[in-house]
Amino acid sequence: MRFAVLASGGGSNLQVILDRIHDGALPAECVFVASNNSHAGALERARVARIPAHHISSKTEGSEEAATAKLLALLEKNSCSLLVLAGYMKKVPVPVLQHLRNRVVNIHPGLLPAFGGVGHYGEKVHEAVEKRGCQFTGVTIHMVNEEYDEGQIVLQRTVPVPTGANAMAIGRLVLKKEHDSYWRVLKAFAEGDIVPTESTNPSQAVRINPEWLKSIRALDGPSLQ
Ligand code: GAR
Repeated sequence: MRFAVLASGGGSNLQVILDRIHDGALPAECVFVASNNSHAGALERARVARIPAHHISSKTEGSEEAATAKLLALLEKNSCSLLVLAGYMKKVPVPVLQHLRNRVVNIHPGLLPAFGGVGHYGEKVHEAVEKRGCQFTGVTIHMVNEEYDEGQIVLQRTVPVPTGANAMAIGRLVLKKEHDSYWRVLKAFAEGDIVPTESTNPSQAVRINPEWLKSIRALDGPSLQ
């Protein structure tokens, strides 16, 4: 499976994915990494792994339309079958979603639909979880469509919030669960346990093997399901 990654930040999720490819656990190839942020740690991590790293933004290309055209051209040239958002803080342009229909996947640091949508990203989610005094938070991996955080959910895993934990502590626990989750979902795409459909119904973007889901749920034990 050939996939590309869009990332805006430090890229720790990207790093785990690259590590799992390197150690043979994930049978897939990351063909390029692109970022809207020239300082993104994710670009540096890609370079270290000798993966083409592109800074693509309206500033580098002259306009949003030109930036979209550049990204589309890269996806086509590299025959990508999946676009992986790993800490990507912008909306994916509609032409890209049309090109890779039901083949764009995102990780969100909370239990959607709670704490999702505009303004809920990264540590903002953990701050909201702390403020609300939630006993549980978690990770959601979902397919991407035109609306923020609203595509079909592929996998959710729960993280208990220890009493008195602040947003930073919550964020650390959630990130650890993200690192154990995203590569498993990519592996499921690579091995056919998750299959993109041609459906225009956002809730039927992919077919998920229930046995695969059961095996992932078993990782957390019965108390967290
Ligand atoms: C991760 O927690 C990811 O879930 C979140 O950004 C962080 C990126 O960390 N993504 C979003 O909030 C998307 N709405 P990383 O750069 O270290 O992988």
